Amino acid sequence: MNPTAIPALLDQRGRALRDLRISVTDRCNFRCVYCMPKTVFGRDYPFLARAELLSYEEIVRLARLFAEQGVQKIRLTGGEPLLRKDIERLVEQLAKIPELELTLTTNGSLLAARARGLRDAGLHRVTVSLDALDDVIFKRMNDADYPVTKVLQGIDVAAAAGLAPIKVNMVVKRGTNDGEILSMARHFRGTGHILRFIEYMDAGNSNAWQAMEVVPAAEVIRRIDAELPLEPIDPNYPGEVAERWRYRDGSGEIGVIASVTQAFCSDCTRIRLSTEGKVYTCLFASSGHDLRQLLRAGADDAQLAAAIAGLWQQRDDRYSELRSAGIPVIKKIEMSYIGG
Ligand code: GTP
Ligand code: 5AD
Ligand code: SF4
Ligand code: SF4
Repeated sequence: MNPTAIPALLDQRGRALRDLRISVTDRCNFRCVYCMPKTVFGRDYPFLARAELLSYEEIVRLARLFAEQGVQKIRLTGGEPLLRKDIERLVEQLAKIPELELTLTTNGSLLAARARGLRDAGLHRVTVSLDALDDVIFKRMNDADYPVTKVLQGIDVAAAAGLAPIKVNMVVKRGTNDGEILSMARHFRGTGHILRFIEYMDAGNSNAWQAMEVVPAAEVIRRIDAELPLEPIDPNYPGEVAERWRYRDGSGEIGVIASVTQAFCSDCTRIRLSTEGKVYTCLFASSGHDLRQLLRAGADDAQLAAAIAGLWQQRDDRYSELRSAGIPVIKKIEMSYIGG
């Protein structure tokens, strides 16, 4: 993608608008303890009604306008995006937008069956969440009865379909799955997939986050380096969320996402569109800006584009930096609603 194609729209801190993350459903078949714990959400949590969701036509129209404002990458998220009916149809439409990188984050449970169709529809890459290789620990993280081998199979099918390089995201929670760090590293080394370790964040209001449960990225690197020597590598692009490392023996790369111990707000180019059409300028925002209302009131493209530009230009968010400075935020949106 050509970074200079469209002049950057800048926010109050001089950050360009480059990435749009679109949540296509608030539903999920997993109940990860850090995202959508069963104790809070249960199985029959009142999820959004169908009429509340943006239709695919509405999403595509907004996506085009975001692209015209400088967005170069779109990531589809959820909940679990593969639970939204005929998501391939949306992918097909989005893939027609020129100069756009199109990716999707999934828990992998439905990936084996859908990877080929997604690739054929025009998806470029997938990121798969996987927090453990051991079934018991996996279940402790996601509270679902789902075998790890099925997720691994999904990753294999996706790679064979050409949705590569595949990134595998592991949220690390001390005392729950941090014993899996090395086995995950050993497993994915040499496969061409990029394993990324994510610091457990105080996202949403329901995961009872405690600072002592965060395993700092530096500790993850130290632990792996002790067995499998690592060296740092440069970012792929400015503002990349993950810090990259490679195995000194040439057997591949890993990443760490240190959103708690090394906030990366100063380079944050991401905007998020919720399932019901609200725009969030930060993962930790307490409220969104309703684009669906504008859309359904008959706004034309110029009015919608002006609304999008205005939201970005007013943006001053830097939650993770403020957290580091000890400033509390009372109410935040749930990750399952905005998709991480
Ligand atoms: P690619 O480089 O295209 O693979 O995307 P990415 O690095 O943005 O990866 P991904 O979307 O998979 O993000 C990985 C994880 O990083 C998310 O699930 C979040 O946990 C965290 N993350 C991503 N973006 C942000 C952000 O803007 N703020 C914070 N605090 N965390 C983020
Ligand atoms: N901390 C860190 N990452 C989280 N995710 C969801 N909740 C959290 C959290 N509390 C991210 C993970 C997961 C993706 C869907 O969202 O990366 O893989
Ligand atoms: Fe579902 Fe992903 Fe949240 Fe886990 S992290 S509950 S898989 S949306
Ligand atoms: Fe961006 Fe907000 Fe995350 Fe900071 S906390 S990196 S501003 S989304």
